[in-house]
Formats: sequence, structure tokens, C-alpha cells
Amino acid sequence: MTHTCPFHQSAELNAALEPLAWLLGIWESDQPGDGSFSTIPPFHYNETLHFSHVGQPVINFMFNAFNAENKKPMHRECGFIRIQPGTNRVAFIIAQNSGLVEVEEGLLTGQQLTLQTHALARTSFAKEPHVEQVSRVIQLRPDGKLEQTVSMALEGGPLTQHLHITYCRRST
Ligand code: HEM
Repeated sequence: MTHTCPFHQSAELNAALEPLAWLLGIWESDQPGDGSFSTIPPFHYNETLHFSHVGQPVINFMFNAFNAENKKPMHRECGFIRIQPGTNRVAFIIAQNSGLVEVEEGLLTGQQLTLQTHALARTSFAKEPHVEQVSRVIQLRPDGKLEQTVSMALEGGPLTQHLHITYCRRST
């Protein structure tokens, strides 16, 4: 399977990525996603996801969120996805615009990824409160939509839902 990445390269899909091929392409929120947390007022946002590859056994990704009302850029994350060959163990290596870097690890079950923070670091001057744990589920639903749910725990606090959003595929 060939795939065009944002840098206009075209490469054969690495066999290691076949179990994750359903992610590849560009996804856009079909309706505003719901943001919430115990410490903040609820909010709505739109988000575009890009997943691409350059023939390596690695997916490159960019997630860009926007304010649903005034369209201003908000949260952004980018990074790489790796799968341990011959297993269903998956790792997301993530840099976030808030100053957080994270390795999330988990399992691929069918077309569902269930991930949790494995390692986390932040800039010395990152804004408080500091997040300590992230848990994320990304799944391709039978209706062809992609769904993402993110929960997080602040230092010493419970794991609580922060985000829920669904996306339609914009291009492969
Ligand atoms: C894994 C990804 C994310 C993490 C770890 C994260 C973490 C956080 C944290 C720690 C807070 C502060 C809570 C508080 O003040 O008590 C926060 C607030 C917030 N987050 Fe996220 N967030 C993530 C993704 C997103 C996304 C995709 C959006 C979409 C727009 C978003 C929008 C907001 C907003 C609007 C607030 C409240 C106002 C603010 O502090 O900017 N976050 N988030």
C-alpha cells in the first residue's frame, strides 16, 4: 500500500505498520468535541489529525486542536507511533505544545488503541497544575468514524475524563 505523506513523499507501507494502516490519512472532527475536567469550565473544540509514514516502521502524527467558536489554535501534539513487531504492543512518543513530552504505551486490540503514560517530562517552567498520568483510547468505529477519549490525573488526583471527540476521514 502506498501513502503520500505531508512532505509529498510516496513510500511503500512498511509491513510492521499493517495492523495500524486504518489510522493513516487525515481525520477531522465531524462535530465539536467535548472538553471537561473537574478544575475547569467545560469547552468545545475542533481537531484535525494527520497520520502518515515514509516507509519506516513508524507512523508520524500531528494533532491540531482549534477553538470551536473563534477557530484559534489551541492544543497541539505531534510525534511518532511504533508497534513492537510481532506483538500488539504500541507506543506513542509525543511532544505537546504545553511543554509536556510523553511516551504512552498500550495495546492494539482489533482497531482500538488503549494507551497510558509510560514516561512523562515537562519544561522546568511548565504551567501548573501538572498532569501526572494520561490515559487515551483511539478506536475506529464500525460506522467508519474515529473516536478519541482522553482522561488525565493531576498530581495526587483521580483519573478524570478531559476530552471526547469523533472524527470523519478527510483523505487517505
Ligand atoms: C493529552 C493531551 C492533553 C493534556 C495532557 C492536557 C492537560 C491539561 C491540563 C493539565 C490542564 C489544566 C487543568 C487545570 O487548570 O486544572 C488542561 C486544561 C485545558 N485543556 Fe488540556 N490537555 C490535553 C489536551 C487538550 C486538547 C486536545 C484540548 C483542546 C482544545 C485541550 C484544552 C484545554 C483547555 C481549554 C483547558 C482549560 C484552559 C487552559 O488551561 O488552557 N486540552 N489541559
